[in-house]
Amino acid sequence: MKIMVVGGGGREHAIIKKIKENKNVTEIYALPGNGGMAKDATLVDIGAKDIEAITKFAVENKIDYAVVAPDDPLVLGCVDALEAEGIPCFGPRANAAIIEGSKVFSKNLMKKYGIPTAAYEVFDDMEKALAYVETCPIPTVIKADGLALGKGVIIAEDRETAKNAVISMMQDKQFGKSGDHIVIEEFLTGPEVSVLSFTDGNVVVPMISSMDHKRAGDNDTGLNTGGMGTVAPNPYYTESVAKECMEKIFLPTIKAMNAEGRTFKGCLYFGLMITPNGPKVIEYNCRFGDPETQVVLPLLESDLLTIMQATTNGTLAETEVKFSDKHACCVIMASKGYPQSYEKGFEMTIPEEIENSVFIAGAKLSDGKLLTNGGRVLGATAIAETLKDAIADSYAMVNKISFENAYYRHDIGARAMAALEE
Ligand code: AMP
Ligand code: GLY
Repeated sequence: MKIMVVGGGGREHAIIKKIKENKNVTEIYALPGNGGMAKDATLVDIGAKDIEAITKFAVENKIDYAVVAPDDPLVLGCVDALEAEGIPCFGPRANAAIIEGSKVFSKNLMKKYGIPTAAYEVFDDMEKALAYVETCPIPTVIKADGLALGKGVIIAEDRETAKNAVISMMQDKQFGKSGDHIVIEEFLTGPEVSVLSFTDGNVVVPMISSMDHKRAGDNDTGLNTGGMGTVAPNPYYTESVAKECMEKIFLPTIKAMNAEGRTFKGCLYFGLMITPNGPKVIEYNCRFGDPETQVVLPLLESDLLTIMQATTNGTLAETEVKFSDKHACCVIMASKGYPQSYEKGFEMTIPEEIENSVFIAGAKLSDGKLLTNGGRVLGATAIAETLKDAIADSYAMVNKISFENAYYRHDIGARAMAALEE
């Protein structure tokens, strides 16, 4: 089978390594992938947002199955375009990807179907939004409607910050058209849990839970990033929380999307907060999370490609989805300065014996050398019987990898360890 994976980060590398385990796979193309994946996939120089070129490539190369991993192409209708050419895909169509593409859509969906989430108001008029933040409870949370590279969320601890956020989104258009509409919502508290799930539109099968570490600095300080590390499972996601999530969030969401004529197939990511009043949805993503995927897929014992195909064919209920009962920890190594400006082009050395456990996000090949080429450079994932060992093993790997200006957090998993010891 010839497989095509759209995207080029650590998540895609983790997906590719897992798909490779399927014996029927003869070829994997990564569009565009990155130099760090060259041993695992054939790199094709087509950008993940170039739907026309992606579709043309898939047709010309007789691709048997396509995995569209990032949010942008999904929201732009990459799956629709490939399906129109008869190519089966993993991922939602555009009319379902809107669950991530528009926060106004997802908030209204949750309200209409009684799915627990933060209370909110939607604004398309800046004056009204400014008047609202004069009196609303503080802290408050301000979100741009559309995709904003994970940066469209401002937690305002005071009214001044709230006002500035409204102005920068709605007047200065910091996130372009994503700021035409904004959501202002209730500030929730509690531990966060990421639950990725497979769904074929009929059933929803949660994967092992995970915990992201979004802030750039140790002890959750500094700017928000795409994610600086993950552990799985997440100790806050107990059996009773899982049961409540299935009844009140996961199934109702799948049913709501069906009722709206927007059947969701692929990976639906639930960003949850376990509040004192029970689990609530912070956000939906229409795709695998990154770096969550870098701990979740290494723990998957069943065949990923078979599961993906089952989400396309509507046969997920009959398909085995089994996770290991071990623990995983992924530490992201970034370029110093990320998520703001950083230098790149430094040579990387990764010892061969750990290559299988390293997912490369930002690298390029130049004269046979692997050079850093992004903010998040790679993720080092260890699996062990205990969380403590997984953390120690992933940091041991980090210590064996070197490149100039490398930066990483030193406390990935510390909060989860503390929760286990409570
Ligand atoms: P998002 O991009 O929607 O995942 O939001 C980024 C981060 O902002 C989340 O991971 C939470 O830590 C935080 N956040 C978002 N919404 C809320 C909320 N209503 N209350 C508290 N924190 C929030
Ligand atoms: N790690 C969060 C995300 O992928 O959106």
